[in-house]
Amino acid sequence: MATPTLEKAGTAAQDASPYITVTFRIRRFNPEVSAEATWQDFEVEIDPKERVLDGLHKIKWDLDGTLTFRRSCAHGICGSDAMRINGRNRLACKTLIKDINPAKPITVEPIKGLTVLKDLVVDMEPFFQAYRDVMPFLITKGNEPTRERLQSAEDRERFDDTTKCILCAACTSSCPVFWNDGQYFGPAAIVNAHRFIFDSRDEAGEQRLEILNDKDGVWRCRTTFNCTDACPRGIEVTKAIQEVKRALITRRF
Ligand code: FES
Repeated sequence: MATPTLEKAGTAAQDASPYITVTFRIRRFNPEVSAEATWQDFEVEIDPKERVLDGLHKIKWDLDGTLTFRRSCAHGICGSDAMRINGRNRLACKTLIKDINPAKPITVEPIKGLTVLKDLVVDMEPFFQAYRDVMPFLITKGNEPTRERLQSAEDRERFDDTTKCILCAACTSSCPVFWNDGQYFGPAAIVNAHRFIFDSRDEAGEQRLEILNDKDGVWRCRTTFNCTDACPRGIEVTKAIQEVKRALITRRF
């Protein structure tokens, strides 16, 4: 397949620009055209200080409007543009071209372990079902208080790290256990269970622990640390999973 090229219009002023030519090697899949995925190269003039998401935008807007991917905020908040970039899960909007060796083709693929719908878009429903299953909301008993539920700074600190999750699925889809059968709850669901299990105001910790005591629950973790490496928010995912395991054994949380 011929490589579509996007060149920046040359002027004397732009000759000094930092733009370089980068090859994006993208995994394409359209079930209406073929049952097989294929690789397609695009050459793009881009400033190395721009992000992979900027390169994908240039391709979609100027070279091939059929290229399909998710993104929304473009600032690392919404979690919608997790993808495999050079073989590693990252957010396209947080990955600078200069940080991933633009001298070589930049490979971009959908995240693994979830059904690919088209190009870089996967079916996130199994991921969100596991999230819903751990009841990711505050559960309390009795009457509503007449003022806010107070919490000490120390108690808040206990689950601070796991509040940072943006549900991008970079962790879950980097986990070999999840790749194998897709039944495992996965790191993101456990992280979000952790966020409430260790919240001193919550009263459903035991319930959540029992949910994760399932054969497809927390014990499936093999401590490979892929999830921690993949998290774009720097959450210590494997540590959180270990803390949930420990809470299941000690029933102290
Ligand atoms: S587009 Fe929202 S996190 Fe990247």
